[in-house]
Amino acid sequence: MVNNEINSSGNVSSSALENGGGLPARYMISAALPYANGLKHIGHLAGAYLPADIYVRYLRAQKRDVVFVSGSDEHGTAIPIQAMKEGTTARAIIDKYHPIIKQNLEDLGISFDIYHRTSEPIHHETSQEFFTYLNDRGELDIIDSEQYYDEEAKTFLADRFIKGTCPNCGFENAFGDQCERCGTTLNPDMLINPVSMLSGNAPVKKPTKHWYLPLNKHEDWLREWILKEHAGDWRATVLGQCKSWIDGGLQPRAVTRDLDWGIKVPLPGLEDKVLYVWFDAPIGYMSATKQWALDNGKDWKPYWYAKDTKLVHFIGKDNIVFHCIIFPVMLKLHGNIVPANVPANEFMNLESDKMSTSRNWKLDMQDYIDDFIKKENGGSQMADVLRYYLTTIMPETKDSEFTWKGYQDANNSELVSIFGNFVNRAFVLMHKLCKGKVPPYHTAFADDLDKQLIKDIKATKENVESLLEQFKFREAQFEVIDLARKGNQYMQKKEPWKKLKADGDVITIIAENGRELADNSLHLSLQLCANLAILIHPFLPFTAKKMLPMMKVVEKMLEWENAGRVDLLKTGYSLRAPELLFRKIEDSEISYQLEKLKKASDAAAAKKDDSSQATVDSQEKKAEGSQLTADSKSHATDEPINKATIQYDDFAKLDLRVGKIVSAEKVEKADKLLKLQIDLGFEVRTVVSGIAMHFKPEDIVGKQVVVVANLAPRKMRGIESNGMILMAEDNNGKLHFVNPEEAINAGAGVS
Ligand code: 2FM
Ligand code: ZN
Repeated sequence: MVNNEINSSGNVSSSALENGGGLPARYMISAALPYANGLKHIGHLAGAYLPADIYVRYLRAQKRDVVFVSGSDEHGTAIPIQAMKEGTTARAIIDKYHPIIKQNLEDLGISFDIYHRTSEPIHHETSQEFFTYLNDRGELDIIDSEQYYDEEAKTFLADRFIKGTCPNCGFENAFGDQCERCGTTLNPDMLINPVSMLSGNAPVKKPTKHWYLPLNKHEDWLREWILKEHAGDWRATVLGQCKSWIDGGLQPRAVTRDLDWGIKVPLPGLEDKVLYVWFDAPIGYMSATKQWALDNGKDWKPYWYAKDTKLVHFIGKDNIVFHCIIFPVMLKLHGNIVPANVPANEFMNLESDKMSTSRNWKLDMQDYIDDFIKKENGGSQMADVLRYYLTTIMPETKDSEFTWKGYQDANNSELVSIFGNFVNRAFVLMHKLCKGKVPPYHTAFADDLDKQLIKDIKATKENVESLLEQFKFREAQFEVIDLARKGNQYMQKKEPWKKLKADGDVITIIAENGRELADNSLHLSLQLCANLAILIHPFLPFTAKKMLPMMKVVEKMLEWENAGRVDLLKTGYSLRAPELLFRKIEDSEISYQLEKLKKASDAAAAKKDDSSQATVDSQEKKAEGSQLTADSKSHATDEPINKATIQYDDFAKLDLRVGKIVSAEKVEKADKLLKLQIDLGFEVRTVVSGIAMHFKPEDIVGKQVVVVANLAPRKMRGIESNGMILMAEDNNGKLHFVNPEEAINAGAGVS
């Protein structure tokens, strides 16, 4: 182990730029490890992976020593919960989603040096060693406490095994570790009305003991390091969140859990305890580096111990506390470097609503890949279109919004009309007016427009560089597109087509010094194309690589030091015909996506209705009160209309029929349910109804009822109920049948 390098005031200094104010000797770049519990959407991509990839591609182009790691986060309660949903094992879940997520990220051009897994033995060993190191040095406290326990499932309820109302935003389905809606980091004790995810019961408290990281002991150096040293270079939201955590008083944080899925606590007699997922996951960056080093014959240690390494964590804002407070404390205690920056992004909304997996309001990377990269005629270029648009709306300082219209506009008005158009024009005109060869530059004919363009090329390189070093990806990409825009303006002003005229192979000079002036404008335009390839490469790698064969140059040209030069393409060199870099995106593609989004979210809402009904059903007390359940209250006669007005079309969706109860029986172990057979004329239906406390089965046989006949089937106590009967509830809570005055034919419509 290398000693912890703490300066004389006891602070850990930021590791970057400490070797005499020069550049870092190496870069350790991480992108948050996504939970391998489902498909990941473009919010995840824009939040961590895309900015990290742009930064890393830029560093590599600068020939800096960089390792870029990420991988699957395969522990914690998120995994077994998904396994419950899919009716399978936790192991099967991670083995299913790890390769899909890995491939999706690769298809979208995210160029990890290694995409690892926290289920790998090397990670288990690294995490256990880390824990042992801290524990052996007395850096962890052992604390007895009472924690939520599910008596039916006979297990403690850590993190996501418990749900309840978020104390911050009121979201009713917040997890015990985090609210999915507002991103607040929680612990189960903070939840209002906690409920076990396993049984649906309210949990009880039971004593247990856990190992804690005493964050409270580290407040002073954290305050100094984050809020003073980094006041000028970390993002405002990151500083803001850290400040509110530190000012709020840091509490000891448990780093063990009573669970059976995870990394075993490396102490004897603790078989039922595992390391907290947020303890092991960030160590995953380190174990990934170890594996990468093993695979490549390198030494991993300088990347995590040497002070001239710049460590940068790319994350979404919901991960700030873990990467800026908890993990740095762990790193410091373990003798490692701490991050030089944590450029966390805010959230990205979709079509005016928060992206949500449970509501299916999202665009999964997989869906984009299927619809645009695999199916459509765009290929990998379409990965760049997504990368481009996501970068233009990257939520660097505040939440942003993805709209399909915005995506289409970014493609059609910027990539096609500006970037693609400029490159295409330069190549087409060069083929037409210069016989397919890079024309010479005639210095004697240089004019102000040429000089300005050369200046613009150099300035853009410097600006992009400086913006990328500050993690300002939106602005950096804008600079590149702006340079292409300037290229178009240059061409428009220089008008080489008014200097020379081509008639097949015959080229005629049609203006004074036409040859020289046309040559100069096309020479510089082609040099600009080469520069655009270099500058756009970190953002749109597929596009840059597609431009190389057109210019007949090798990948080495994309090295950053070449940017700013206007001698990249040699005079007289023959170039290939241009290929279209981007295709137009049609309105029909956009409406298809919007429709698809709506359908998927409608389907999720319908499913949620069913499953929340099923959850309610399983909670006997709530479910069996009445088939009208909670809604019955709103129909009490002394209350005004308290539901939103609906249109006739909404009402017309109901198929209401008169039916006759032909048999009724009590449902076993359900005080409030009756199983009814109802004759609807055209068929006899089973309907389970919560009226058993109001009517004896034998008293209602033969009665006519109004049935909602097209209600989606749902299971209650294992019996499929196919419809619902309408009842009126008087002020005393007594139920009355709603039926025709006189008996009429079964199946008669009610409208
Ligand atoms: O929020 C998440 O999706 C976590 N799986 C991120 C972990 S980042 C790191 F610590 F590994
Ligand atoms: Zn919340």
